[in-house]
Amino acid sequence: MDAIDVIRAKRDGAALTPEQIDWAVDAYTRGAIADEQMAALAMAILLNGMTRPEVARWTDAMIRSGERMDWAELDRPTTDKHSTGGVGDKITLPLSPLVAACGAAVPQLSGRGLGHTGGTLDKLESIPGWRASLTNAEMLDVLRAAGAVVCAAGSGLAPADRKLYALRDVTGTVESIPLIASSIMSKKIAEGTGALVLDVKVGSGAFMKTVANARELAETMVAIGTDHGVRTTALLTAMDRPLGDAVGNAVEVAEAVEVLAGGGPADVVELTLTLAREMLSAAGLESRDPADALKDGSAMDVWRRMITAQGGDPDAPLPSARETHTVVAPSSGVLTRLDAYGVGVAAWRLGAGRARKEDPVSAAAGIICHAKPGDTVTEGRPLLTLHTDDEARLPRALESLDGAYEIADGKPTLLPLIIDRV
Ligand code: URA
Repeated sequence: MDAIDVIRAKRDGAALTPEQIDWAVDAYTRGAIADEQMAALAMAILLNGMTRPEVARWTDAMIRSGERMDWAELDRPTTDKHSTGGVGDKITLPLSPLVAACGAAVPQLSGRGLGHTGGTLDKLESIPGWRASLTNAEMLDVLRAAGAVVCAAGSGLAPADRKLYALRDVTGTVESIPLIASSIMSKKIAEGTGALVLDVKVGSGAFMKTVANARELAETMVAIGTDHGVRTTALLTAMDRPLGDAVGNAVEVAEAVEVLAGGGPADVVELTLTLAREMLSAAGLESRDPADALKDGSAMDVWRRMITAQGGDPDAPLPSARETHTVVAPSSGVLTRLDAYGVGVAAWRLGAGRARKEDPVSAAAGIICHAKPGDTVTEGRPLLTLHTDDEARLPRALESLDGAYEIADGKPTLLPLIIDRV
């Protein structure tokens, strides 16, 4: 087979054959297709799309490029959640221990942030001592000890995706629904979970800006999961404003701990409980109400065991920033808009995120939102507090907040927190 024939076929709008797909993914993983050829193929896929059978086969080939994990020796059903990413999305932190406290095992492989969306591993690494990299045997030990584990994917898991995602990132080919769906699902299926709930975010702070695109992505991923024997459902949820009050790393861990302690912002609690019910139902464990596990402290107990089992100290103080700067409300009225993208970029510029994969992140950087859209605000009162270790980062962060909020009379037009279920 020849890479140029495969590229030409997709360029000219043909559906790739299963043989072409298997060959292209395998040859790219082995280094037998050059980066520029795979970049051309990815661009042809972005422009011309893929049929459902092509996406299914592409995903399959990416799964087969590495190992598929197996949790059969656990005595609990496995269930997991994947979010397509957003601003202030710390839901994995309270959700994984909560679902484990209700009787499931949660083997969650998570990622790092790139650009304006945060990464679960970056957030958890603000806990002193906590380790993201575990061997498969260590993952199993943490699952046995705590019922939930959140860690980085090892290099043996879907290596084709690891290589292809890095290439897409620098060739303007991330935003392709078939490539996003196969990338996410190859990792989640290879992770070996029996059930999966997808949280597909919609709005300015998300990959998918419209409900229609998010629905297409969700339907594509649910079909892939179902075809691979993983009980998969998806929720479309709002990402037009930040989720919760905290955006960053340590500040989000602190908010997640508040939720586990029975408090926390109402939207974070509602989404955590809704996703927990979906995950438990997909795992056939409907009998326990997750709200009880928040109230009686059992979810917090699992969190503490999980953090400790990964080398972290759940009682250690979280890092705090050297500098803070408060943005006050310029007038009185109703906060009608707080744009997720603007706040996400500001947090990123404060040091919470990275511009390149190799960059470090600052654990203490982030933003606290003192008001949510719909709240009444008073002129001169705090609207946002910016946290950073580097004062020189403040001007650019403030620039990205220009036009990111609006105070007016009347009500905001907001997406419902839970838009739909697929
Ligand atoms: N997240 C992934 O894992 N892959 C994509 O392609 C996009 C988001």
